[in-house]
Amino acid sequence: MEDKAYFTERHSEDVVIAGSGPKANPRVKQIVDALVRHLHAAVKETEPTLDEWMQGIEFLTKTGHLSTEWRQEFILLSDTLGISMLVETINNRNNAGETESTVLGPFHVSNAPRYPNGANICLDGKGEPLFVSGSVRDARGNPIAGATLDVWQANADGFYDVQQKGIQPDNNLRGVFTSDAEGKFRFQSVYPRHYPIPNDGTAGNMLKALDREPNRPAHIHFIVSAPGFRPVTTHIFTPDCPWLKKDAVFGVRESLIADFRKSGGHWEVEWNFVLPRNDS
Ligand code: BEZ
Ligand code: FE
Repeated sequence: MEDKAYFTERHSEDVVIAGSGPKANPRVKQIVDALVRHLHAAVKETEPTLDEWMQGIEFLTKTGHLSTEWRQEFILLSDTLGISMLVETINNRNNAGETESTVLGPFHVSNAPRYPNGANICLDGKGEPLFVSGSVRDARGNPIAGATLDVWQANADGFYDVQQKGIQPDNNLRGVFTSDAEGKFRFQSVYPRHYPIPNDGTAGNMLKALDREPNRPAHIHFIVSAPGFRPVTTHIFTPDCPWLKKDAVFGVRESLIADFRKSGGHWEVEWNFVLPRNDS
């Protein structure tokens, strides 16, 4: 029997796990032990050279240096590795019929302008007009009056206002609406288009090395909330986007693909959000 106090290739993970003391924070230990087990298994499977290991360290160092309040490269890595969607999904398991959640992404801002139903959130005059309407309901189909719908999307060139300060008007294509007494909401916007996630950093380099594209399929973001209900962070997707099955961040769920219809010179989409009760 090998003494697991000393490092061996065979028992490397056990040696590290055995190193924590009796006062270890149990949750931190549970998470770090699992990471150690899986990371050691990955290293044993791939047997990196010292050069490759150093490249990995440099990759993470660069990721840290790129990260600011406005550019969170670690979140982009988490997104493009499918971890953000996995954590989102684990934390928002819901019942059939309730609106599924998806990634928040980096382009939400708090304090977007509040608008009355029917307002137009497109301030740059670009793109094909789109009329969005629908309702917010509970799982039994009862309307939820006074629900808040926080909405944001990229413009017709594929950029969010916060990516083009001084080019797009502030708060272009974002706004907060409230459902009426019948749980209904409506607003005017523009037909969304696909766009690339920021890909000039380490996450983008990883995508290139994996022969993956940085594109997200066309979508509109929503956070829908109401007192007594669990809020949902979600999107609706256009049905015809070539990137639907190749989303760089794996954010598409089939239940969120909407029926956008062209009628005369404009588009229309109707969407009904279903929120779970807080205690469900
Ligand atoms: C977005 O949909 O806005 C987004 C999500 C994840 C990464 C980058 C952008
Ligand atoms: Fe987006």
